[in-house]
Amino acid sequence: MSNFVVQSQSQYDQLYKESIENPEKFWGDFAEQEFAWRKKWDKVLEYDLSKPYIKWFEGAKLNITENCIDRHLATKGNQTAIIFEPNNPNEEALHITYNELAKNVNKTANMLKANGAKKGDRICIYMPMTPELTYAVLACARIGAIHSVVFAGFSAKSLSDRINDATCNVVLTADGGYRGDKITPLKEITDEALQSCDSVEKVIVLNRTNSKIAMEYGRDVWWQDEFAKASDECPAEVMDAEDMLFILYTSGSTGKPKGMVHTCGGYMVYTNYSFRNVFQYEEGDIYWCTADIGWITGHSYIVYGPLSAGATTVMFEGVPSYPDMGRFWQVVEKHKVNIFYTAPTAIRSLATCDISLVNQYDLSSLKTLGTVGEPINQEAWDWYNNHIGKGNCPIVDTWWQTETGGIMITSIAGVTRDIPTYATLPLPGIQPCLMDENGNELSEGEQEGRLCIKYPWPSMARTIYGNHQRFAETYYNTFPGKYFTGDGAKRDSNGNYRITGRVDDIVIVSGHNLGTAEIENAINEHSNVAESAVVGYPHDIKGNSIYAYVTLKNNVGSETINDEIKDLVSKTLGPICKPEKIQITSGLPKTRSGKIMRRILRKVAANEMDNLGDISTLLNPECVEEVIKGRV
Ligand code: WTA
Repeated sequence: MSNFVVQSQSQYDQLYKESIENPEKFWGDFAEQEFAWRKKWDKVLEYDLSKPYIKWFEGAKLNITENCIDRHLATKGNQTAIIFEPNNPNEEALHITYNELAKNVNKTANMLKANGAKKGDRICIYMPMTPELTYAVLACARIGAIHSVVFAGFSAKSLSDRINDATCNVVLTADGGYRGDKITPLKEITDEALQSCDSVEKVIVLNRTNSKIAMEYGRDVWWQDEFAKASDECPAEVMDAEDMLFILYTSGSTGKPKGMVHTCGGYMVYTNYSFRNVFQYEEGDIYWCTADIGWITGHSYIVYGPLSAGATTVMFEGVPSYPDMGRFWQVVEKHKVNIFYTAPTAIRSLATCDISLVNQYDLSSLKTLGTVGEPINQEAWDWYNNHIGKGNCPIVDTWWQTETGGIMITSIAGVTRDIPTYATLPLPGIQPCLMDENGNELSEGEQEGRLCIKYPWPSMARTIYGNHQRFAETYYNTFPGKYFTGDGAKRDSNGNYRITGRVDDIVIVSGHNLGTAEIENAINEHSNVAESAVVGYPHDIKGNSIYAYVTLKNNVGSETINDEIKDLVSKTLGPICKPEKIQITSGLPKTRSGKIMRRILRKVAANEMDNLGDISTLLNPECVEEVIKGRV
């Protein structure tokens, strides 16, 4: 057992202290002991957060796939790397060994090369949760191409925006993707997206659903044909530690999503470190993270963290509600899952169902539970603890972000204490702090403020693809010298953190980050819409939901305007962004300088009308009355 995997509270205290006193030694020792490098670094860390300028393991050479695959083959070649559980429970599950993973990734890598992909190219992956998605991600890493995975629930417009932003030359997709009893027409959506993407030369299409699709001659090829032709040997490209590994888009406060850039060395080191510590993975454990690889959770804790640790990771193609709301528990029983990691929104929706859907399954294999993506409320925590963990499983409430690359604040399963609704303590190596609105750091002890991280860690995002200026402005200018998370948090007198939610214009709906500005832009495209303001409001299952206030040109709209707006948002951005409530109003409250007072609209949407604050300074205080009366 590595001495970097914490086994007791006292070891945590000791390691935390060492990690703060000498971070370079801490990370340098861990990186040296635990990975296969082609060449060692010249320097562990160089940084200047005012630029920001961040380099970890500069001068080192590696390929992350050699760490996720090749180095395991001598001892674990026949161990299962991936258990694939298909959408349809009657379709056979696959157990893919590390030997098979090696061959399949190499074949996929050669398939990519044969279709024009090379080191440094950006490859868009728009695929369902099949093993080929994991092969594709690792194949890109194998040849030094930069993957940009776009969640297969996004619309054609969102897909084309992302392809264009990163100027991808190859797109990997499937004819369709199974989701419960539906099929998402991925190739059709891709075709629509590519009408406005000039950079794309090749589209490789996996046949998953036998859907009838169009293939464009010269551009589109079938995955299965190309894969069959490819050799199963492919040398790993030797990468610099600071070369880009991937781009992953996340919502921003302005309309445009941000392409967060992660690099090879630091990301590998930290996802491995956090995976092994937080979940206390032991040889032979079956680990299941229910996220989609289209999100950071899937990147770090389905693919890179578990595979670099030589773990067995479950990939589930389907949805929790198909064929019924007992599916998660059926899969836990079927594959004897030991570690289960999911989102609070899933727990809340499953907790509303008849408990027989849980109790008919044997969940005794479970030893650790986890949550991610949003705060978990006490009721959901209790249900998870009582009905799934049967009071015997630690629950790790893991706080982190696309930008942080890996889990930052969490309990360590069975080692440090978990406290319901608290993410609790930073992992060794992570230095959080709370800031007040004037930019002062709040001294230790019980405090509430804006959550920042005041020292670099290996998997921090390095930039926003193509826009370093925006990266600096979004994360490093608010509190100079510190990384600003955009979240608010409380800290108790023992140093435990409780995340209170976003303090910017991002709303977390069912665990998905949605930018309100992006949704407003989509709504404003409607020909009758003059203006809109989008806010989040508390929702029992989704955590938050979207409330849109809309004014119409000349106050004229049709009877179906609400549905039209919902459809438009769904079509433009994807169904997850659809507003739950729409209120048509003749005006929006504004400051004298013309800025929409979202603070008031948030309060009205949340039904907190008794403390709207001072509205007398508004340009149009009379419209507040109308907004309150018209609340839906
Ligand atoms: C929120 C997901 C409370 C938070 C890994 C953060 C959480 C945003 C938690 C990042 C948690 C994530 N408790 N809030 N355990 N985990 N969040 O980029 O607001 O999709 O800033 O990364 O989710 O979402 P993202």
